[in-house]
Amino acid sequence: MGSVAVLHSAQLMTLAGPARPRSGAEMRELGIISGGGMLVRDGVIEQVGSSEEIERNLPNDADVLEARGRVVLPGFVDAHAHPVFGGDRVEEFEMRARGATYEEIAAQGGGIRSTVRKTRAASEEELLALAQKRAEWFLRCGTTTMEAKSGYGLSLEEELKMLRVIRRLNETTPIEFVATFLGAHALPEEYEDRPNEYADCLVEEMLPEVVRQELAEYCDIFCEHGYFDAVSTRRVLSAARAAGLQLRMHADQLTNSGGAALAAELGAVTADHLEQTEEEGIAAMKAAGVQPVLLPASVYSLGKTRYPMARDMIDAGLAAVLATDFNPGSSPTPSLPMVMSLACTQMKMTPAECLTSITVNAAYSLGRGGRIGSLEVGKRADFVVCDCEDYRELAYWFGLPLIHSVYIRGRREL
Ligand code: NIG
Ligand code: FE
Repeated sequence: MGSVAVLHSAQLMTLAGPARPRSGAEMRELGIISGGGMLVRDGVIEQVGSSEEIERNLPNDADVLEARGRVVLPGFVDAHAHPVFGGDRVEEFEMRARGATYEEIAAQGGGIRSTVRKTRAASEEELLALAQKRAEWFLRCGTTTMEAKSGYGLSLEEELKMLRVIRRLNETTPIEFVATFLGAHALPEEYEDRPNEYADCLVEEMLPEVVRQELAEYCDIFCEHGYFDAVSTRRVLSAARAAGLQLRMHADQLTNSGGAALAAELGAVTADHLEQTEEEGIAAMKAAGVQPVLLPASVYSLGKTRYPMARDMIDAGLAAVLATDFNPGSSPTPSLPMVMSLACTQMKMTPAECLTSITVNAAYSLGRGGRIGSLEVGKRADFVVCDCEDYRELAYWFGLPLIHSVYIRGRREL
């Protein structure tokens, strides 16, 4: 595959540091090398340092990437996304613009259920083609690794179809996809008023098959009033863990139902959303080492005003993650730079904390912190070149695509 030398960046954002998620004040330490460079061989980072150091032992066959005047960062890692679905929800977007709420639309048969109908109606090939187009959007926003959840199928066959699409995205796009089984996203229409029977189906039929076919690494659930209560959450996630999956959890998004504390009790790797979480939930996550995954674009897109207490979480020593929550209903954006901007303005996170949250901390939350998330010797050469001189500009010039080029495994993909 040969080698690539990156020279004369304005800033090389290494994110070098301890081999674990960064918490509290560590989130503001970015390992910046002004004018830095990097040597990549066969898709792996071989050397990181000043451009002079890199130039000194430049291999003859190296392709030189002259980054002068630009910032080089680790590829972005999106740890919470729902990129596989049929159709869109642009009608609901207009209904909300006219004053309806997400909850009202869901109660009228819209919301997740409307996407379930469109996803079931689409063939596997159609879903794949739609998701491939969306993968291209993510790449254009600098994302090189992302999570992908099922959860718009809600039956054995339809969930397997979604998970096969995620597997094929991995094989057919340059982005690395990490699959999460979210059969417990909503109660399907055919199980109306029979939530316990759907939980039986999840635990007895769906989970064992997902695990047998090795289609997911994580299991997630929408723990929320009107979706899955604490009793079913305990049941489904305990079964998932026993079957060998790791746990993530949609917690405390619309109401505070003690979701963060439940994620801690169940040993989840992450608790996601947390808009309504308060001090006790934060303390429980801290004690159990749960990483909070904050999704400000869904708050923004739903036109709500209550953002998660990011400042309290970071100051309490949690290793926070930021993600898009890309989905057709509550967060139709693939852009982690947009999420950084919202996190700075609405949650008072610093640009440095934001960058740690979408790189190294996100990588650890997906079990890949040893391989990606920072620009360090031995890690995969996933990196982004941005048309700015200071990394903070990425969050500052919001709505402007600053991504100049994207490399995955040392290969230029954008
Ligand atoms: O994370 N909260 C549950 N799931 C998604 C919304 C999915 C949808 O509306 O289609 C979320 O916001
Ligand atoms: Fe979500």
